[in-house]
Amino acid sequence: MRCDQTPAWTALQAHADNFKSFDLRTAFAQDVPRVQALSQQAPHVLADLSKNHTDVATEALLIELARQTGLAAHRDAMFRGEPINNTEGRAVMHWLLRQPEGSLPGELAVPLQQVHDTLKPMLHYAEQIRADAQITDVVNIGIGGSDLGPQMAVLALQDFVLAGKRFHFVSNVDGHELAAVLRGLKTENTLFLIASKTFTTIETMTNARSALAWFKVQGGSDVSRHFVALTTHVAAAAEMGITTTFGFWDWVGGRYSLWSAIGLPVAIAIGAQGFRDLLAGAHAMDQHFRAAPLEANLPVRLGLLDVWYRNFLNYTSRSIAPYHSALRRVPAYLQQLEMESNGKRVDRHGLALPYGTSPVLWGEPGTNGQHAYFQMLHQGTDVVPVEFIAVKKPTHSLKDHHELLLANVIAQAQALMLGQTDEGGHKHFPGNRPSTFLLIDELTPTSLGALIALQEHRVFVSGSVWGINSFDQWGVELGKVLAKDIHARLLSGDTAGLDASSAALLQGVRQD
Ligand code: F6P
Repeated sequence: MRCDQTPAWTALQAHADNFKSFDLRTAFAQDVPRVQALSQQAPHVLADLSKNHTDVATEALLIELARQTGLAAHRDAMFRGEPINNTEGRAVMHWLLRQPEGSLPGELAVPLQQVHDTLKPMLHYAEQIRADAQITDVVNIGIGGSDLGPQMAVLALQDFVLAGKRFHFVSNVDGHELAAVLRGLKTENTLFLIASKTFTTIETMTNARSALAWFKVQGGSDVSRHFVALTTHVAAAAEMGITTTFGFWDWVGGRYSLWSAIGLPVAIAIGAQGFRDLLAGAHAMDQHFRAAPLEANLPVRLGLLDVWYRNFLNYTSRSIAPYHSALRRVPAYLQQLEMESNGKRVDRHGLALPYGTSPVLWGEPGTNGQHAYFQMLHQGTDVVPVEFIAVKKPTHSLKDHHELLLANVIAQAQALMLGQTDEGGHKHFPGNRPSTFLLIDELTPTSLGALIALQEHRVFVSGSVWGINSFDQWGVELGKVLAKDIHARLLSGDTAGLDASSAALLQGVRQD
């Protein structure tokens, strides 16, 4: 049943009316076990949800909503490999990429074996490159999911990265990016990874062709040693002259592809065992999502909170604040994950929806954000739920830093909640501003895998309740088509039939 037609939705609307006077400070004063009731341990991640505009009654109604919209059945359909990506007629099985070998009976045993038959040579290759002292620079050319996942993970796991290898990520069609990277490279020391699920994406194809041309002009000859394609479309790579390839399958969405061959830069960076640990952490979260009762299931609790905020309290954005500089690309990664998955205005059958879906995600690492936009979070006119991510143990031994960092993240969550109401005017902080606190013991491949899988599944949960297909991205197509037309016009100067603004801009940017 569509979520807004369920009895639980109606009950939540009434509940939200009562919630207008909800105040976190009062809630904590009245409800002593609030922290326990609204905390959840999941594999490698502890979540404190207690500073959110929610309570036990809200959660109970949200669980009812999940039941009435068939969340568990939808989740189980994904894990059975059914084609739940209905607009593309595909299964959604990124989770299979982290499933241990030989652990599934029945129809999924065959694709699972293919996963491992692909993973093993990929990890073997990664080890070969690690041992190859001549290769000092690995350049990943890809965009969207073929860039953000590996880039985020290589940065996050910088303490595990092999010394003596540099990693570069080139995504933008803006030649300034590739040109700047190429300037520092030598052909004999460079490995280019051309990462594209479809091997048609214009940015990646343009960068790959330029990298190949540069390689040849610089005297490089052994393309099979210096260029590798990571793609589901091996034939298209071969057409470009790239014959060293690692494949994956159409049932892996681009923004869910970190765990596939797209993860090769991560495997080169942290090694085969590190990559297996990343997969194992994600698998542990998969098991939690599959098996934990809805009430004690962290992706479910987070995804339902997202629905509550978006549809009942009208909070339209979420700020991501990782208090760890190595997690600095996590906000960008989550932006694609949430907004490309759930930024949909129609249901799975193409019918327009009368309620909101994806929030806007944004953020920067703490404490930097505190000195930039936290002003708005504390005293602005809009309420923006914040998601803090903190890591208990540092990997450096610099005195004072980590204690200061952790003190700040706790203090910010506290300040948002408590405010400062004994002062007026400019010094008044209203408080009662919501936040979630995710705590990780140590930032390792395993815990990162769990954290990212947690986010994947929470996006699944809200998308499922909203009744949308979280696994297509038709909204990116129009711009691609129009860019082709404008590109041709830019070269020819033909503005016939264009709207006046685009015509004027086109004339304005044309080279004399
Ligand atoms: O255009 C959007 C998109 O398809 C994303 O979903 C994807 O992650 C990105 O482009 C890159 O696609 P590909 O890996 O096929 O080059």
